[in-house]
Amino acid sequence: MSDLLPQQELAALRDQLHRYAYQYYVLDNPTIPDSEYDRLFQRLLTLEAEYPELKTADSPSMRVGGAPLPELKAVEHAVPMLSLNNVFSQTELDAFDVRVSTLLQKQGIAVSTLTYCVEPKFDGLAVSLLYQNGVLVQGATRGDGQRGEDVTENLRTIRTLPLRLPATAPTLLEVRGEVLMLKHDFARLNTEQLARGQKTFINPRNAAAGSLRQLDSKMTAQRRLSFFAYGIARLEGGTMPETHDQALQQLRQWGFPICEHVQCVQGAAGLWQAYQQIEQQRDSLPYELDGVVYKVNDFALQQQLGFVSRAPRFAVAHKFPAQEALTEVEAIEIQVGRTGALTPVARLKPVFVGGVTVTNATLHNEDEVLRKDVRVGDTVIVRRAGDVIPEVVAVVLERRPEAAQQDSARFRLPAVCPVCGSHVVREAQEAIARCSGGLVCSAQRKQALLHFAARRAMDIEGLGDKLVDLLVEKDWVRTPADLYQLTEEQLATLPRMAEKSAQNLCAAIAKSKHTSLPRFLFALGIRNVGEATARDLALHFTSLPALQNATVDELLQVSDVGPIVAQSVCDFFAESHNREVIAQLLTAGVQWPDCAAPELSASASALAGKTVVLTGTLTTLSRDEAKQRLLAMGAKVAGSVSKKTDYVVAGEAAGSKLDKAMSLGIPVLSEAEFLALLVN
Ligand code: IVH
Repeated sequence: MSDLLPQQELAALRDQLHRYAYQYYVLDNPTIPDSEYDRLFQRLLTLEAEYPELKTADSPSMRVGGAPLPELKAVEHAVPMLSLNNVFSQTELDAFDVRVSTLLQKQGIAVSTLTYCVEPKFDGLAVSLLYQNGVLVQGATRGDGQRGEDVTENLRTIRTLPLRLPATAPTLLEVRGEVLMLKHDFARLNTEQLARGQKTFINPRNAAAGSLRQLDSKMTAQRRLSFFAYGIARLEGGTMPETHDQALQQLRQWGFPICEHVQCVQGAAGLWQAYQQIEQQRDSLPYELDGVVYKVNDFALQQQLGFVSRAPRFAVAHKFPAQEALTEVEAIEIQVGRTGALTPVARLKPVFVGGVTVTNATLHNEDEVLRKDVRVGDTVIVRRAGDVIPEVVAVVLERRPEAAQQDSARFRLPAVCPVCGSHVVREAQEAIARCSGGLVCSAQRKQALLHFAARRAMDIEGLGDKLVDLLVEKDWVRTPADLYQLTEEQLATLPRMAEKSAQNLCAAIAKSKHTSLPRFLFALGIRNVGEATARDLALHFTSLPALQNATVDELLQVSDVGPIVAQSVCDFFAESHNREVIAQLLTAGVQWPDCAAPELSASASALAGKTVVLTGTLTTLSRDEAKQRLLAMGAKVAGSVSKKTDYVVAGEAAGSKLDKAMSLGIPVLSEAEFLALLVN
């Protein structure tokens, strides 16, 4: 390139960088390595620094932002930026279609079924982009619709927004679209803000608005904003397309990002179907939308329909049920979980949000309440998105009542458990505070019983929430062992408990006595011991007594068991109360297939004395652990398959050893079959 004049080299660099950035950001299809892009970009910056007079408004270097501005200038919109009227139901949607058709008919235009374009209603902020001779010269916010703010420099930092258009573009083009922040960029920004000790944003829309209206465009450049074009406001020196969908196609060809969920449909039925479809996709889309927009597709018809006050007659927004709403905090209560974890929960004045009436919202833990500074009496923003449990997003501080303004109104976690009065402990480094009452605490007892009876634990069918509440309240059941003392006659006296149900429950309890060691360990609800750890422990120790007597060091030998889990297991079995409950369970007849001491199981084992070859990748334990387990059971582990091989254990992507085993007719065990042999 060195024999080129600087302006020629700069022009070539700008061309290349525009093309690569478009491929990378808009098409999501990079054609060169990032390092090459960075190299070209550096070269551009160096040349522009050397020849500042050659820097242009459409240079990719504009993406990094410029000097801070003293203020954002006002911009008069040549074509006003209007708003949309809303509909909220299928009935209102039908009425919109009827209104449009009737209006057209009155003007002598015969329409049977109208074609509409349906697109997401992005939850960001509207902007207008002015291109002269293919170069972005001005970008503005909507403002009051007549006058907005000049945010050109900030808009230039948005990677997907074209700074220049192809030579085929019209001489003057004004494009309308939405600036927004993708959900994952929003989450990342908030994580970074937290880490820097700075305030977090309430939602992606606020984050996008805050980022776009910065005086310092370098700041905007650091926030990842996105852009979707949805209309053409002015076009000179070119041909205006005839329909909205053609306009979008055209914009796409000029390099603008267009949402892929735009579709053309027929009549009200088509609108309704598209609405439902987009609503279903809503949570899985990478950006937030607050509804869909219906637009009459044909521009000639749009013109016939015209506007009423500040909104078009040819388009309407169909809003989704809101996912956020304002309500008041009536109380902050503390819920006690199975392991004693205390979770603050906001009791709310009922509010309809996300399609349901919400009365509670989780506040997660003490630190979260303090960070958000939620107080009783506060007005808060509650959010319920999809099936996610409702949460308090933020407090509306301006609405804090006087009584809540005192420092004493600040949330404080109680020092004792609200259910049993035992003291509350919060270990250093832990976000969770816990009730120290163990099974003395009826809240923990209820949760522990539900966990014990769960399908993946002891699997006691029919022992649900309400029943456990009753059993604990009547003090019939204090520990899981008490479940095995319940009688049919006793159960039949409970409210709403028919004789047959009592019989079924007793049968389910009896059936649960026959279990496996991993299930039993999981059911005990040892802190930090989930299903997978329970299985690892059972595999390693093979018997309950061996596990009960294991030291922390011995526990650390188990795969995937670290110091925290090892300590939890030790602490659990050190508690005499826990040992007592276990003894009672065993006395009641809870049992599992024997896998006692390694020596014993070795002789009893199906694998004792056998030669086993391991091949492929095992997902639940490492190759080495599998080998150790086999050796402990008296098996020999060989590296290659021969006629002497008794079993081949085939994990994922097993290759030639498996082929050989098949050809020799040697029994092949799947990972699941192998595990079953190890545990039983
Ligand atoms: S068309 C004549 N299309 O909705 C109005 N607007 O209430 C032209 N919006 O301020 C707007 N997504 O910020 C249109 N696909 C979409 C939109 C959309 C979001 C916003 C836009 C505007 C507001 C109008």
